[in-house]
Amino acid sequence: MTPIETKQLPEHVAIIMDGNGRWAKMKGLNRVRGHQKGAEAVREIVTFSREIGIRWLTLYAFSEENWERPAHEVQALMKLLNRFLKSELREMQENGIGLKTIGRTEKLPKSTRQILFDTIEKTSSNNSMILTLALSYGGRQEILDAIQKIAAQIQKNEITISEITEQFVSDALYTAGMPDPDLLIRTSGEYRISNFLLWQLSYSEIYITPTMWPDFGKNEYLAALRDYQTRDRRFGATGGNRKK
Ligand code: FPP
Repeated sequence: MTPIETKQLPEHVAIIMDGNGRWAKMKGLNRVRGHQKGAEAVREIVTFSREIGIRWLTLYAFSEENWERPAHEVQALMKLLNRFLKSELREMQENGIGLKTIGRTEKLPKSTRQILFDTIEKTSSNNSMILTLALSYGGRQEILDAIQKIAAQIQKNEITISEITEQFVSDALYTAGMPDPDLLIRTSGEYRISNFLLWQLSYSEIYITPTMWPDFGKNEYLAALRDYQTRDRRFGATGGNRKK
């Protein structure tokens, strides 16, 4: 039996996992310990999402701006990511979880790219849940890449300007083929979007908790989902005239 009412469960949950550094500092530990504990929270939330029937889970694991962090911290994050991908492959296969990635992944170290694309390939036929890791991701960069792609199609006379609809733009983003997030969760109490899924979050419900990411577990996740289930989503329309 699932611990939550399955009707009106969000189809797509996106999470800004923030507060690893502060969690570590509060405990007198170094930041890397915070990221290690954060990776454990990722495991728990991925498994639980699949268990309760979330179809799409998108995690902001490394932003374009995160490259500015000290080299040793970036290295530690990449190492953690490599370890996570290696250790979770079995879990993903057993539970039908497919892996995807969005972002400028060509900037990732070679070893990470290799494990990442190997895992994506091996899990490509899994479809119980799609786990998308945003890596070297920035929302403005994504929109910029889409504009350049579309402009090149115009320049080559492959499309006309009037063919550029909202759907056309959506299809030019890294998230092409994915539904927009229904729910955005942000931990650590910051009221910011931080360059995450700028186009896609237009009508998402937002849940912000002061809990630091390493402490974010099943119970708090359930609280966010239950809160979402109480929301009246109007998509800019009136009560009797809404999209879903
Ligand atoms: C924010 O904490 C978190 C990140 C920079 C990235 C998230 C990374 C993980 C959860 C660990 C590894 C990921 C995977 C997928 C295994 P912060 O350092 O910005 O915290 P602060 O704002 O308190 O400094």
